[in-house]
Amino acid sequence: MKLLRVENLKTYFHISEGIVKAVDDVSFSLDDGQCLGLVGESGCGKTTTALSINRLLPPEGIIEGGEIYLESVKLTVLSDVEIRKHRWKDVSMVFQGAMNAMNPVMKIGEQIAEAVVWHQQVTHQQAWNRAKELFELVELEPGRIGGYPHEFSGGMKQRAMIAMALACDPKLVIGDEPTTALDVMVQAQILNLLDRLRKTLKMGLIIITHDLSILGETCDRIAVMYAGKIVEIGSTEDVYDRHMHPYTHRLLMGFPNIHRPKLMPEPIPGSPPDLIRPPSGCRFHPRCDYAQEICQEQEPGMTTAGNGHSYACHFGGAFNG
Ligand SMILES: Nc1ncnc2c1ncn2[C@@H]1O[C@H](COP(=O)(O)OP(=O)(O)O)[C@@H](O)[C@H]1O
Ligand SMILES: [Mg+2]
Repeated sequence: MKLLRVENLKTYFHISEGIVKAVDDVSFSLDDGQCLGLVGESGCGKTTTALSINRLLPPEGIIEGGEIYLESVKLTVLSDVEIRKHRWKDVSMVFQGAMNAMNPVMKIGEQIAEAVVWHQQVTHQQAWNRAKELFELVELEPGRIGGYPHEFSGGMKQRAMIAMALACDPKLVIGDEPTTALDVMVQAQILNLLDRLRKTLKMGLIIITHDLSILGETCDRIAVMYAGKIVEIGSTEDVYDRHMHPYTHRLLMGFPNIHRPKLMPEPIPGSPPDLIRPPSGCRFHPRCDYAQEICQEQEPGMTTAGNGHSYACHFGGAFNG
């Protein structure tokens, strides 16, 4: 059974400068208990995709097309009141940067208990007990539950944020850059924790990151996003070892990789485009080493490479020479 289906999603921001096509015809799905990595440079529409699923877009952000289904529930047609029954209980999110926005004068345990009270009708004592349970679930030392944010390391604060996301036993958790700003060792610990929680709690997991190199151990599938579109999607193995899109290729070259110890990371020159006026044809063409005339003129459709692996490029695999 599919846990989540995103079909031809279009989410645009209407601002005074124009219409920002932040998510422009994005489709992907997630099976029960699966982990999907959503990867791309900053500004490619990852957070907007996650906020669309949670229906937590700011007023200028509008879902203009497509559908999002959680199991059989069509999230895209629910009213603001109806969506609240699903938010946190069915889908929850660890927000980008939220661990640095904790209330500095409130005990961590109280903040977790508060998250429980917000979403469930329980007494303060029940909420506190649940907070203790969640604290242990994310492998924080029980004795630290009365501590304040400044007494917690980055990794510990991120564990507390994950505990809050788990408050109502969601079916799907979306972690938006959950390991960014943590050092490499702690990153690995947080990813391991998310992976363990996904398996023990049998939930679906989406990990959003700009760093394609961190997803190998945790994700079943990876979707690569560029300029509001998914440009490649497939099993983690296919995306790492048999990727076909030049953008995926460049993303992999952009990070140090234990499998390529002698190569220095090579960042991609330039930056993702302004999504008010995205480039014609393939949106990656101005930065692509293999672009030809057709890439400027014609948007590439998805080519299927088998085993659920597909990519949007006129010259897929060109970097293989
Ligand atoms: N509230 C907003 N108003 C206008 N543009 C926005 C808003 N939020 C995001 N954007 C734009 O949408 C695009 C995608 O942003 P985002 O989804 O945050 O990307 P990512 O998470 O991949 O870094 C970017 O061009 C960003 O500037
Ligand atoms: Mg983001």
